[in-house]
Parts: sequence; structure tokens; C-alpha cells
Amino acid sequence: MILATNFQLNGKPATFDGDPETPLLWVLRDHLGLTGTKYGCGVAQCGACTVHLEGKNRRSCVTPVGTIAGKSVTTIEGASGKVAEAVKAAWVQIDVPQCGFCQSGQVMSAIGLLTAKPKPSDSDIDNAMAGNICRCATYVRIRQAIKDAAGVKGVRA
Ligand code: FES
Ligand code: FES
Repeated sequence: MILATNFQLNGKPATFDGDPETPLLWVLRDHLGLTGTKYGCGVAQCGACTVHLEGKNRRSCVTPVGTIAGKSVTTIEGASGKVAEAVKAAWVQIDVPQCGFCQSGQVMSAIGLLTAKPKPSDSDIDNAMAGNICRCATYVRIRQAIKDAAGVKGVRA
């Protein structure tokens, strides 16, 4: 018998009654209908599947749902609060996305960074965002949007 995994999803109770080894990414997308979180590599190398677990960045493609029982998950659909709103507004203002596929993961990583470090340096940004790959190479706009959201002036365009 498989016991249900109960957790908090975007501030509300959620449950999954399948195999607890199922990656959180597939629970979100296929079972709970939240398709904003994307599948890129499936092996924690691209960042497309980034969500927040207990407020910290987490690659949902390599997180068995059974390990998050009782914990709090936030996806791009539920990203809210002062930091999230600042990041989303900067993303729109600068028009960061190109094809858009990687961008929910980028935004979640940026929110995670600015929550932990409200005034990041260039190297803080580089380190925090290094695991988020963008095939369209929107990196310059991503850095600028993070700086704008943080209210820091940088030397990079
Ligand atoms: S799909 Fe999870 S890191 Fe690439
Ligand atoms: S905007 Fe296309 S992959 Fe990043």
C-alpha cells in the first residue's frame, strides 16, 4: 500500500497518492496541473524545474515527492510577496524572455537569490544563476533584471 504524501503547495494543502519516489516535477505538472514549472534535463543540470522548498531553490526533477512530506512548496504560479513582485516586474520591464522556456526557473532562482541576499554582487548573481541554462542566451537581461529588482547599480549593461 502506498501512503499519500501531503504537503503545502502555494499556500494550500496538496496530496499525491502515487509512488513516493515520483519526482516532484511530474507531480506538479501531470497530477496537479501546474505546468509553469518546466522539464529541461531531468538531472539537475539546467534549472528549468526550479521551485522553492521551504523558501529555498530546489530542482524538482530530482526531488522525490516522498521527501517533501509536510513541507512547503512554491511554484512560479504561487510566487508572491515583495521580492517576487519586484523580480516579476523587472522581468517584464526589461522584457527578459525570448522563447520563455527556461524563464520560470530563472525567475524562481532569482527570487531565491534576492530573498537570501537582497543586494547581491555581480559574482553573487553569477554564482546563484549558474545552474539555470538559457538556450536563447538571455543572460545579460537576466542579470540586469535582478539588479533592477534589487535596486543595485552595476557595471554591466
Ligand atoms: S529539469 Fe531539473 S534541472 Fe533540468
Ligand atoms: S528564453 Fe529561451 S531558453 Fe531561455
